[in-house]
Amino acid sequence: MKIDVVTLFPAWFEWFRSQRHVANALAAGTTLATINPRDHTPLSGGQVDDAPFGGGAGMVLRVDVMDATLRGHYRCDPVSLRATRRVIALTPGGRLLDDALVEELAGEPALTFLCGRYEGFDERIVDHYASDVLSIGRYVLAGGELAAMVCVDAVLRKLPGALGHPGSAAEESFSDLLGGLPEYPHYTRPADFRGWHVPDVLLSGHHDEIRRWRLEQARSRGAAGA
Ligand code: 6GU
Repeated sequence: MKIDVVTLFPAWFEWFRSQRHVANALAAGTTLATINPRDHTPLSGGQVDDAPFGGGAGMVLRVDVMDATLRGHYRCDPVSLRATRRVIALTPGGRLLDDALVEELAGEPALTFLCGRYEGFDERIVDHYASDVLSIGRYVLAGGELAAMVCVDAVLRKLPGALGHPGSAAEESFSDLLGGLPEYPHYTRPADFRGWHVPDVLLSGHHDEIRRWRLEQARSRGAAGA
């Protein structure tokens, strides 16, 4: 998979890229590149944003700058880009990221994330260049960078070979195997700590009973909305 992130803060992704689970996915053939509008802007002084028409606080990423950035990098009219790959605009009001969407994105050969800054994007960027508008929750971050990392982290975990143990991604929270339920609780050594005992069934070695218990636990957590 080829992942590109359009961001004014590419250094944030150097740290992200160096984390072991990300580094492993990249070593296995996934690419994670950043594209900086500052390197493509046709405006003087590296300008990329402007005050919003109609007034209001903050600055907005300009549509002509995004056009030049995508055009310069992909060597095409950026209007046609979303026919060839998912182009995902990150904004707090977008479609909420969930496991089903992560699964869908993990099946794509190429993704481009667009990070807004300041007050976000000129809406024409979303209207004409993006295939998707995505949010990681109903709160406002200073920019899309952390949201892009959340998406990329979740997607990379779905790719074969990203996790040490091949079963772990398929069985983890919210996946089909658990019927969209949250994950069951995990325990490790010591089996008894300050009188807090690990559930007996997990020490029993009865794999059918353990499976049943985990499913029940996941169900009751789902019911509680945990
Ligand atoms: Cl995708 N962007 C920003 N700026 N804030 C967010 C978000 C995205 N998702 C939740 N909050």
